[in-house]
Amino acid sequence: MKKAVIVYDTKRGSTETISGWIKDFLEKEGWQVSLLRAGEERKLEGNYDLVIIGSPIYYEKPLKSVKEFIEQNRETLSSIPVAIFVVNMADLFGHLTESYIKTRYIGALEKLLKTPPIITYPIRGWLRKPGQKTEKDVGEFVKLILDHFGSTF
Ligand SMILES: Cc1cc2nc3c(=O)[nH]c(=O)nc-3n(C[C@H](O)[C@H](O)[C@H](O)COP(=O)(O)O)c2cc1C
Repeated sequence: MKKAVIVYDTKRGSTETISGWIKDFLEKEGWQVSLLRAGEERKLEGNYDLVIIGSPIYYEKPLKSVKEFIEQNRETLSSIPVAIFVVNMADLFGHLTESYIKTRYIGALEKLLKTPPIITYPIRGWLRKPGQKTEKDVGEFVKLILDHFGSTF
């Protein structure tokens, strides 16, 4: 059985909801998944096949707690596959933002890792309630993970 942990933080709840969906999807595929809130927990302990790290974007930046978690666990994370997702709404502002999200939002987390992540993915966040784009993004992200590990979805 594959074992994963989702390390996330949130201000208004959407990244927590999304992390729960990712957990549910992977568990349906037979994975064992735990959730860990950055800021509450500082040290990554246990044996994992995958660490998923997720942060919302506020004022152009991922949350400090998530960045600090990566910094504090930099050595441990260099020996485990890491997948990153950023919850944001920048894609609402036009097609030019795709590369912007990648370099600016995802890059801000990616550059803290010693070894490159296996997958990075932007997920559409929300202000009041989630829409179809979020669901689609979460499905795509999980599919990339399962493809990487050679299972079907
Ligand atoms: C005050 C505020 C600032 C935000 N700044 C950004 C931003 O700079 N770029 C972006 O793409 N989305 C921005 N967003 C959208 C959030 O990333 C989105 O609402 C996300 O779902 C929030 O995650 P959370 O519910 O886990 O805290 C902002 C939202 C708020 C409320």
